[in-house]
Amino acid sequence: MEMNDRFLRACRREAVDVTPVWFMRQAGRYMPEYRAIREKHTLLEICYQPELAAKVTLQPVRALGVDAAILFADILLPAIPLGVGLEFSKGEGPVLQNPVRSLEDVQRLRPVDPETDLAYVLAAIKILRGELGQTPLIGFCGAPFTLASYLIEGGSSREFLKTKQMMYSEPRAWQLLMEKLTEVLSAYILAQIKTGAQAVQIFDSWVGTLSPQDYVDYVQPYSHRLLQAAQATGVPVIHFGTGASTLLPAMKAAGGTVLGLDWRLPLDEGWKLLGEEVAIQGNLDPAVLFAPQDEIAKRVEDIMRRADGRPGHIFNLGHGILQNTPVENVKAVVELVHNFVPVVG
Ligand code: CP3
Repeated sequence: MEMNDRFLRACRREAVDVTPVWFMRQAGRYMPEYRAIREKHTLLEICYQPELAAKVTLQPVRALGVDAAILFADILLPAIPLGVGLEFSKGEGPVLQNPVRSLEDVQRLRPVDPETDLAYVLAAIKILRGELGQTPLIGFCGAPFTLASYLIEGGSSREFLKTKQMMYSEPRAWQLLMEKLTEVLSAYILAQIKTGAQAVQIFDSWVGTLSPQDYVDYVQPYSHRLLQAAQATGVPVIHFGTGASTLLPAMKAAGGTVLGLDWRLPLDEGWKLLGEEVAIQGNLDPAVLFAPQDEIAKRVEDIMRRADGRPGHIFNLGHGILQNTPVENVKAVVELVHNFVPVVG
């Protein structure tokens, strides 16, 4: 079987036959196949059983015809061996039983060896490389800031007040926490690459809560270390944040061969800001997938025109697919991207 390498080629800013497309959270509750498995298993059970995780990873590849698979896992899995406890409670999202609030809490975090503590993730990668055939596999982890925010807040947050409190008031605790997370996440992402992930995405989903100066002072050095470690392997590294339009130059400086853009900035403006030496992933608003299909088509075509045939565009949403998204609309986007013909003149 011939490799579908248009995703990997676009990451390297090489010429492609058509623009590659995949979706963050492409496996999930909007899909009936996923809901059928979730009726019998919790989210963590799916992650813990490599055969199940592999099966769920393949669901959107088969149903949508996307150009890449993303490993089914969660950015919070490393929190489990760190010893903070993790539950996904119905309707509330993730809950960490022992949040990290002081230097002592940081010092109590357990050492993590991804090869053993997260062996189930690596086992899923092995299965997937055997089953995916021509479709490339994306591995991923959270960036140190976004993971730190969950550890400190104990779950999802709007204001990130406890996180910023530690940053501003307990510099030793913050630095040690970020050091530890950077080390664990680097080992984890390198293990995923060694096992067979052909590209990786670093999710700094909530970094947009920071001012540019705070990003540079408190986050960038750690993200830089993680991103550089991943990039040194030679696989494409996607650096993704949301609400981060003002941070883009600093995020680019931190690293990534591909920068993720959300919908808050038009694609061409984001690309101009970042320069031509990085590839760009994005940037349809996930809410647009709830619009009528002619409206979806207009929005997709607008993004394609802004990309303007430059090498290095990977079509994606600006953030993950939302629950209850109509599957047929997701499929329509794949077809619109693959069938897009630029109007000359
Ligand atoms: O298809 C894929 O993209 C791969 C699987 C994947 C999941 N989580 C599975 C999941 C990926 C890449 C993630 C990343 C993730 N997890 C992020 C970064 C991406 C982003 O959206 O910003 C974050 C912040 C998390 C943490 C997390 N996991 C939250 C806040 C929640 C609850 C919110 C929600 O959507 O329910 C989760 C649960 C989760 N992880 C689900 C899935 C499919 C929903 C789960 C379910 O089946 O109950």
